[in-house]
Amino acid sequence: RRKIIIDTDPGQDDAFALLLALGSPDELEVVGVTAVHGNVPLARTTVNAQMVVELAGRADLPVYPGCPRPMVKPGFTAEYVHGPSGLDGCDLPPPAAPLGDRHGVDFIIDTVMAAAPGEITVCTLGPMTNLAVAMIKEPAIIPRLAEVVFMGGGFFEGGNTTPAAEFNIYVDPHAAHVVLASGAPVTMVPIDVTYKALMTPDWLRRLRALGTRAAVEAAGMAEFYQDYGNKKFGTDSYPLHDPCVIGYLLRPELFNGRKCHVEVEIHSPVTSGMTVVDWWNVTKKPANCLVLRDLDNPPFYELMLERIARLP
Ligand code: BDR
Ligand code: CA
Repeated sequence: RRKIIIDTDPGQDDAFALLLALGSPDELEVVGVTAVHGNVPLARTTVNAQMVVELAGRADLPVYPGCPRPMVKPGFTAEYVHGPSGLDGCDLPPPAAPLGDRHGVDFIIDTVMAAAPGEITVCTLGPMTNLAVAMIKEPAIIPRLAEVVFMGGGFFEGGNTTPAAEFNIYVDPHAAHVVLASGAPVTMVPIDVTYKALMTPDWLRRLRALGTRAAVEAAGMAEFYQDYGNKKFGTDSYPLHDPCVIGYLLRPELFNGRKCHVEVEIHSPVTSGMTVVDWWNVTKKPANCLVLRDLDNPPFYELMLERIARLP
């Protein structure tokens, strides 16, 4: 059983990642959830993370609020995608459980330092500020991490927030730079993969038909989010990005990619937040990241249904 920290900015697709992880207790032990600024401000992502954890029946699992803004750039949020609450489409009560007893950055440091080397994997589903600040505050965590798996970036697909940059990296490119240059084993789940994780109308109907509270609320969120995507792109299917990170931990054989050297553009205003992936090894720089590129979509969505069905 793999021990993971989920660092998140819910976000409807973050909510699906949390539900998928919490519905998979045989494979994954979620040791804590840290919230970060991102899709909406920190105060909202924190409450949203708590509400989703409670929806999964895990009010015992603390949520630790982390950093309220990027390291260098001013904050940038995405209510235009997720709605003003960040979780529009669901109807969840305010959280009942208290917040975690520490700052999210300290939770990451304390947990990694207290565990055996190679025991803790950190999954980041939003801007990577919390993990980067943790690495700066306590560099001894870096060689102790089993893996960092992050949703963010894009290479062949380009960007979804600017032509060059994906949202999570665009919002805090300096944090992504710190993590990618740290020497920790890093796996990148870019939009090249997640735009293959298309959620179809038929799948959404099957999700709602599960009839459990978690499934019905998840379906409400997904419908809101799908509606945004469909209006924007004129399609009927829209990708859930963040659960791909958890899908990769559960079923790595559904994904493929390549170890590459990856750098983040932090200087140019035009391409700020671009992930520059040396896919063809033209620089001969050592690989610092496993870059995923493909996903077998149908089994991944079947897995999500199966695992969400286990929740209350
Ligand atoms: C990423 O940006 C956010 O809007 C989503 O939650 C996801 O983490 C996709 O670019
Ligand atoms: Ca996210």
